[in-house]
Amino acid sequence: MSEGFEPGWLELREPHDALARSEAVAAHLLALLPARPRLLDLGAGTGSLFRWLAPRIGRAQAWTLVDRDKAMLEAAFETIADRAEQVGLKITFPNRKTLLVHAPGGAWRVEALAADLAEAPLVLPLASHDAVVSSALCDLVSAAWVERMAAALRLPFYASLCVDGREVFSPPHPADALVLSAFRRDQGREKGFGGPALGARAPAAIAAAFGARGFTLHRGASDWQVRARGPQPMDIPPHPFLTELVLGHALAARRQERRGAAAIGDWTDVRLNQIAMRLLSLRIGHRDLLAVPPGR
Ligand SMILES: C[S@@+](CC[C@H](N)C(=O)[O-])C[C@H]1O[C@@H](n2cnc3c(N)ncnc32)[C@H](O)[C@@H]1O
Repeated sequence: MSEGFEPGWLELREPHDALARSEAVAAHLLALLPARPRLLDLGAGTGSLFRWLAPRIGRAQAWTLVDRDKAMLEAAFETIADRAEQVGLKITFPNRKTLLVHAPGGAWRVEALAADLAEAPLVLPLASHDAVVSSALCDLVSAAWVERMAAALRLPFYASLCVDGREVFSPPHPADALVLSAFRRDQGREKGFGGPALGARAPAAIAAAFGARGFTLHRGASDWQVRARGPQPMDIPPHPFLTELVLGHALAARRQERRGAAAIGDWTDVRLNQIAMRLLSLRIGHRDLLAVPPGR
């Protein structure tokens, strides 16, 4: 989970994201959408948010998936097409740039836009969309980026799965405080958005920037709650998502705490053994937010 941008990591987290997302916040967004909504998905990755939200919208709709990584956008088209076919939905490509998923309530149209969101909102086709949505993006961006978006947008802004800094590993370990505080500092590294990444400050920064411009805020918890379940046969591999989370925390902590290498190494060994023994559980706090423009 180094920077969180690898398709393999996005695939691992997708079912946990799907379980965690706030239905209540999504319901507020759905209530605002017109008959055939057009959504602009920032930092879309392989299309995880599309796969969760499109069936909830449940009628004809159009999505523009924005990412700076063209390979990611190609993976998004492939994954969306594969998953649609797996559930018996027909897909067509009316032109080189467009994928249509023929769902019962109307077609889901998907297009891609390769763009660097550091240049947002300038690079975004805001006028041709009804809502700006994102998932697991807003803890990467800077405070200045959120201010610019809040100043420019007259559309609903939905930011799902923003980390909020609450993390509990169970059972506790003496080095948890060291690892978790180093991990949080590491989340604040510059991630290409013109300033320190917001990390756990993202929910508060979004609420403040949009709230100051008269937007109404809806918020809901979307925590990951991951548990390696009780005893299992030895031929089932240890929980890959928990393993990635532990290794990701250890890597980030080592980057920030060079003198704590021995303690972090011990923490990592203990946590990996706990995963193998199906003893570890983990809660990582997230928030879903929806900012609704004045008068909507
Ligand atoms: C943590 S992933 C989330 C992906 C997807 N939204 C999801 O929930 O699975 C962040 C995504 O933002 C994209 N991204 C990061 N920085 C970007 C930038 N400056 N411009 C455009 N996309 C960016 C990455 O390529 C990646 O796909």
